[in-house]
Amino acid sequence: MGKFEEVYKRSLSDPDAFWGEAAEELVWDKKWDRVLDDSQAPLYRWFSGGRLNTCYNALDRHVEAGRGAQQALIYDSPVTGTVRSYSYADLRDEVARLAGVLKARGVQAGDRVIIYMPMVPEAVMGMLACARLGAVHSVVFGGFASSELAKRIDDSQPRMVLSASCGIEPGRVVPYKPLLDKALDLSAHKPDGCLVLQRPENPCELTAGRDEDWHEALSQAAPTDCVPVEATDPLYVLYTSGTTGQPKGIVRDNGGHAVALKWSMKNIYNIDPGEVYWTASDIGWVVGHSYIVYAPLLQGATTVLYEGKPVGTPDAGAFWRVIEQHGVVTLFTAPTAFRAIRQQDPQGEKIAEHDLSHFRALFLAGERCDPDTLEWAQDKLRVPVIDHWWQTETGWSIAANCLGIEQLPVKPGSPTRPAPGWDLRVLDSEGKEVPRGTIGSIVGRLPMPPGTFPTLWNAQERFVKTYLSGFPGYYQTGDAGYMDEDGYIFVMARTDDIINVAGHRLSTGGIEEVLATHPDVAECAVIGVHDELKGQLPVGFLVLNAGCDRPFEEVEKEAVQLVRDGIGPVAAFKTALVVKRLPKTRSGKILRATMRQIADGARYNMPATIDDPAILEEISEVLQEAGYAEQRA
Ligand code: COA
Ligand code: AMP
Repeated sequence: MGKFEEVYKRSLSDPDAFWGEAAEELVWDKKWDRVLDDSQAPLYRWFSGGRLNTCYNALDRHVEAGRGAQQALIYDSPVTGTVRSYSYADLRDEVARLAGVLKARGVQAGDRVIIYMPMVPEAVMGMLACARLGAVHSVVFGGFASSELAKRIDDSQPRMVLSASCGIEPGRVVPYKPLLDKALDLSAHKPDGCLVLQRPENPCELTAGRDEDWHEALSQAAPTDCVPVEATDPLYVLYTSGTTGQPKGIVRDNGGHAVALKWSMKNIYNIDPGEVYWTASDIGWVVGHSYIVYAPLLQGATTVLYEGKPVGTPDAGAFWRVIEQHGVVTLFTAPTAFRAIRQQDPQGEKIAEHDLSHFRALFLAGERCDPDTLEWAQDKLRVPVIDHWWQTETGWSIAANCLGIEQLPVKPGSPTRPAPGWDLRVLDSEGKEVPRGTIGSIVGRLPMPPGTFPTLWNAQERFVKTYLSGFPGYYQTGDAGYMDEDGYIFVMARTDDIINVAGHRLSTGGIEEVLATHPDVAECAVIGVHDELKGQLPVGFLVLNAGCDRPFEEVEKEAVQLVRDGIGPVAAFKTALVVKRLPKTRSGKILRATMRQIADGARYNMPATIDDPAILEEISEVLQEAGYAEQRA
């Protein structure tokens, strides 16, 4: 039996011993009563009875062990021309003072704090300061519009909001303050106050009685100590797209999360304390929470916080410059970043301009990794390129090639085998296991491993209904795919209306809800269309109200703007097309899958239940005029 096989089997046959041993690597204020608590099955908890503090384990523990001078975080920001580094002692001190600021303003264990900030060290400090107090942070990605921020404020009811005057995108400054103001106008819940980081690129006027200047508050702050919390207490809530416009608050606990993430740094990514590890993502996404902030720090590694893009800041050599300059041994990013780099530097000439001799591995996730991109990266970088599969819900890998245990052969198109702790099955619609090689719903036998979400914020019923009731005894991932003869998993598509745009997860239902508010729109449908760079792009179809005689282009333009204002630029919604009717089944269900096939230029079978086949002709013509529906090889 190979080493991986041995570890994997043990994780399933004796989870108590397996995860109990992993937990010994952390400092606990009180040891757990039970490793796996199945008393409320199918709702499982990990390390119940245990008490710890995540910030202590991420920062103070290393300082107290004599490693305070080691670099903890390197901030590299090509958009502002800044490189700054913090030792573990520096970061601990900054976080302790920021926690002091929050505490002085009444933030206590269990209170929520919204963080709406760009990729600056203060945002990471904000997350860790909440963890230090046992408060629950909820980071909202900067590319979301005010109404999305307002929904998150109303759902999580924060005591405070941490924000900044602006974010910086290549070629434009994004003022955050007006977005924050509008969100707080829209939300029913009002926080006690906001702490605002003034950035020199675009300082803002503070709202008297509500806002405080970050640096001023910090200059008068007293550092505060870590507050131990229950292992099962929430560390954060991170909202992600569901099938409706109401986002789901994914809850992460303290104990299971710290154990799983620390374990994953060595066993999956093969990173030792002191090594430099870089995740090029955003702290607004789960990848950023887990692998920019928590996992590298729990492991005592050095993490890189990069405020820039793979291309355009200044060019397609940006990643190689960062890897060389900071001694990065492993990079984790989304395939779309590599597609962007490859488009601009197909021969990888910029790679050759840098000394990458210390670089060991590239990890990709966030969307399906097309074999072409994987092979290009392998060929140009000459290091293992590892596709791994996970979700906001799971917080870390569901399937991966665990480099720290045993490197398995790479099969392009597959994120390799189920990770330790994950017993994956592929089921048909009746819940029966399908033969190897056959596509079905990918599910995980309960319990899921530590670090995965125990529930949805304020929505236990929705949690059970969405994830646990489709196939009793299993977690429904929402992804479809198959397992091959060697136990490799292939993730092919979502089983719901979620699309993946440049590694960002979006709900087509959510975009439809926004489009439907346009006064001239009677009906609409949004689909995800294949895109060479971003994987998928949303395209909207609008049926106008009878009697509306406005030029189509005018309504289409307004619809695009409506989504930008209603969801945010991150939706990358650039195409709305007016059509006479939408294709439907006789029972009135919109045939989105068929529309998607037409848009992608794929072959499709005429659905037997279609109400009026002629509509598909019209859809096809409109798509062709807009540059879609080209027959693809
Ligand atoms: N704040 C404000 N606006 C933001 C933003 C932020 N934090 N992040 C993105 N946006 C805006 C962009 O400026 C862009 O606006 P535009 O329509 O005015 O051009 C829009 O949202 C779409 O952004 P994006 O999808 O990122 O496209 P892009 O063209 O700016 O960049 C890539 C394309 C491929 C370079 C970029 O998507 C990328 O680096 N992807 C890496 C993947 C990644 O980090 N995934 C996260 C999960 S692992
Ligand atoms: P998010 O919650 O934003 O991380 O998005 C999770 C979804 O992205 C998954 O459910 C998949 O649909 C997709 N995804 C993430 N990683 C992969 C991968 N390696 N291969 C295929 N799909 C992936």
